[in-house]
Amino acid sequence: MPKLNENYQNLKESYLFSEIAHRVGAYTAAHPDKEVIRLGIGDVTLPLGSMAIRGLHSGVDAMADPGTFKGYGPEQGYLFLRNAISGYYARNGVCVDPEDIFISDGAKSDTGNISELFDADNIILIPDPVYPVYVDSNLMSGKTITYMSGNAENQFLPMPDRHIHADIIYLCSPNNPTGAVYNKSQLKEWVDYALENEAVILFDSAYEAFICDPGLPRSIYAVEGAKKCAVEFCSLSKTAGFTGTRCGYTVVPRELKFKCSDGRELSLHAMWNRRQSTKFNGTSYIIQKGAKAVFSPEGMAQCQENIRYYQENARLIADTLARKNIPFFGGIHSPYIWFECPDGMESWQFFDYLLGHAQIVGTPGAGFGQNGRCYFRLTAFGSHENTKKAMERFEALF
Ligand code: MLT
Repeated sequence: MPKLNENYQNLKESYLFSEIAHRVGAYTAAHPDKEVIRLGIGDVTLPLGSMAIRGLHSGVDAMADPGTFKGYGPEQGYLFLRNAISGYYARNGVCVDPEDIFISDGAKSDTGNISELFDADNIILIPDPVYPVYVDSNLMSGKTITYMSGNAENQFLPMPDRHIHADIIYLCSPNNPTGAVYNKSQLKEWVDYALENEAVILFDSAYEAFICDPGLPRSIYAVEGAKKCAVEFCSLSKTAGFTGTRCGYTVVPRELKFKCSDGRELSLHAMWNRRQSTKFNGTSYIIQKGAKAVFSPEGMAQCQENIRYYQENARLIADTLARKNIPFFGGIHSPYIWFECPDGMESWQFFDYLLGHAQIVGTPGAGFGQNGRCYFRLTAFGSHENTKKAMERFEALF
């Protein structure tokens, strides 16, 4: 009989977004006549830009021709895409060597898989509230988590506590779920703290394309010294609408070296490369051709246009909450708006209330941690029409 990984028993029964889909499915089955508006999971609704489509087509055509056909690709990704991503970083004022970039099928897999590189005997700091993947992937491998409180007082941006030692720190900015963004001096505090503690920061920047203030850092590598202490995860899901197409990238600088128990230095880059070469056969060539086209000037302009569309929705949601005097965070440099549940409701209670009374699906804050118990998240990724309709219903309800 196999001995099972009983750490799975420490997880919540189902993944947050599966639970939401389940509840919404039950509601729509019971009320087939009601029109439900989904502002729950952060999934895009606009189609891919024409440049991405053209890139994907060129990849398909290459597969049909014996002269350009591709079999297994490099596990780290094709250099044409790694160069394009390095160029994207450079345009944002950050220098990242293409050799340090690993192409993947998205930030979710990489932020989950990276925990394999670390022993269970580490002090792991994770903010609460937080994207559940960081928590679940550590619990699955039997690791212990120390939570850092994000709350209204610290604007949901926990800062390092110099009295506490950490080995591994998860940060996400712009934040999922709160939409809060670290400024450069706050990120510098984190980098300084990590360097002092010889810790590693696992920095999720999947929402960086939503930052509209050029003074805010879109990458942790905008901070000096970060290459010695930080891994960065990014994704085309929200930047270019690739949630269903799947492509992301992770930067593991070769400067990242840590001592192992016998005193030798190990390179995290070499370990991640080893892990990916063993367990991953690379992102499909066709997808990488589409991704490369995203980083062309025209491709980027198309992404910006879609992001502006979603930002307009975020503004609409934020204005509605402001009119109702409901305190909220995010919605400016982020597609997420995070607000206090009205009338003292708890978040799952509010989820059911909003679904039942206004047929709006959001995400209960409790799904992101204890500190989200009385908060709720709406996404700006719907259509204008649906977002407007949802806000009219919301306004009529409160
Ligand atoms: C979310 O809604 O939090 C995201 O869509 C989840 C994800 O990106 O995996």
